[in-house]
Amino acid sequence: MRAADISDDLTTVLVTEEQINAKLAELAERVETDYAGKELLLVGVLKGAVMVMADFARHLTGHIQMDWMAVSSYGAGTKSSGVVQIRKDLDVDLHGRHVLIVEDIIDSGLTLSWLLENFKSRGAESLEVLALLRKPEAAKVHVDCKYLGFDIPNEFVVGYGLDYAERYRNLRDVAVLAPHVYS
Ligand code: PRP
Repeated sequence: MRAADISDDLTTVLVTEEQINAKLAELAERVETDYAGKELLLVGVLKGAVMVMADFARHLTGHIQMDWMAVSSYGAGTKSSGVVQIRKDLDVDLHGRHVLIVEDIIDSGLTLSWLLENFKSRGAESLEVLALLRKPEAAKVHVDCKYLGFDIPNEFVVGYGLDYAERYRNLRDVAVLAPHVYS
């Protein structure tokens, strides 16, 4: 679906499908230059990263491998506790691999900060982050993100993998959810 199909649910379109596609092509060129001669392992963080992984990976012209993690934040009853539980671990060994974590969004940064620490102990040869979106105003911890799509305001955004109550992931654009939907 496009933003125009559900315009009553949205207030502002922040990034269009066309802008996302152009940005992913640009990031893919940078990644290919940086990893020339090396085979990358892309690690997607479920579920939000499904769209960015699918589109980014297809912009790459060489071979890559793909794996997935599923994590959930828990503890103290809030998502922002920074305590992360692995719901699905990687299938592959990271030892000696060039790993690029692929994320849809860096919000507080806590998920990625935890994942980076976790991956560092697994013997990867190199480790970097690609994130389509980042909310600088929401940051609780700094995350080194080498390949970034767009900085966006600290609003409730949906689309392109990002959900509200598991809906809107299939929206092709990234947009601010109208308050009447969740209040
Ligand atoms: C979202 C997103 C990131 C994380 C970012 O996932 O995909 O993984 O939150 O937030 P943070 O920077 O504050 O840690 P979510 O936990 O909503 O799960 P989902 O991808 O399955 O929707």
